[in-house]
Amino acid sequence: MKKKVLITYNMFKKGYAELMEKYDVTLPPEGIESFTFDEVMAVIDLYDAILPMYNFPINKELMDAGKKLQIVSNYAVGFDNIDVPYATQKGIVVCNTPDPTTEPTAEIAMGLIYAVMRRMPDCDRRLRDKTLVWSLLGNLGRTLWGKTLGIIGMGRIGQSVARRALAAGMKIIYYNRHQLSPELEEKFEARYVTLDELFSTADVVSVNAPLTPETHHIVNAERLKLMKQSAYLINTARGPLVDEKALIETLQKGEIAGAGLDVYEPGEFVCDELLKLENTVLLPHLGTQTFDSRNEMAEFSARNIINFFEGGKITRVN
Ligand code: GLV
Repeated sequence: MKKKVLITYNMFKKGYAELMEKYDVTLPPEGIESFTFDEVMAVIDLYDAILPMYNFPINKELMDAGKKLQIVSNYAVGFDNIDVPYATQKGIVVCNTPDPTTEPTAEIAMGLIYAVMRRMPDCDRRLRDKTLVWSLLGNLGRTLWGKTLGIIGMGRIGQSVARRALAAGMKIIYYNRHQLSPELEEKFEARYVTLDELFSTADVVSVNAPLTPETHHIVNAERLKLMKQSAYLINTARGPLVDEKALIETLQKGEIAGAGLDVYEPGEFVCDELLKLENTVLLPHLGTQTFDSRNEMAEFSARNIINFFEGGKITRVN
């Protein structure tokens, strides 16, 4: 009998072609974007594999109900939506999609650095509503060239941001759980520093770490206080890495120059206080939001399931 695979979201089908040919695959019906948690709970006992999106919770309750479940192939590089220790305890394999997410997410991080430092969205907005005043000393931003970028989390995405920042003439310092090899440090001309040094010396702090109990609120009130008044914070990783309340207060008081955010602490919800601040550039989690990445992530997450059942390389996180 064919293995049964449940995909929670009506994604482009191109990347799932081989999976759909080989297995008995269920997707939400046409016209329905996503299965709800309750809908998945009601049928999960029938499935050998599940392919959830990055914001679909794979918790204890669901894994207990999934009596036959052998693999969770997450459609995301992040896997904070999954109770990974519990999956491990139950012998369920968890995979993610690192490769297709690296470059597009780094593009958004770099784009936010340009946008917030050079005030592009803010000036575009005021030009359109005819409130912008043309003046040599108005609309001043800051040049990236020669500034220091502090990267928190020097994994694939962090390194990809570093590569772009080097091309923009920035100097790189970084904090990571483990120091990079001398070869990689040389490649990115990057210097390993403590978190305190990173916050107090960087002109731009970019958060590129995964969300774990250790990294939750890694950007907190005390660390924001260490930042220069002329510095910017960029977050393209996950909202809860930043204490958003503390960040809003810091921005409201003008204690840092601005922030570029693609993710928010309460998930897909931007609070009014952030919307009111002119020194922020706010995006709706655009990191992997490209035609290319959506298709590649579908193919990659499908490949993890095929290789798991047939033997082959999988990007396992537990
Ligand atoms: C996107 O946020 C991802 O984790 O892939």
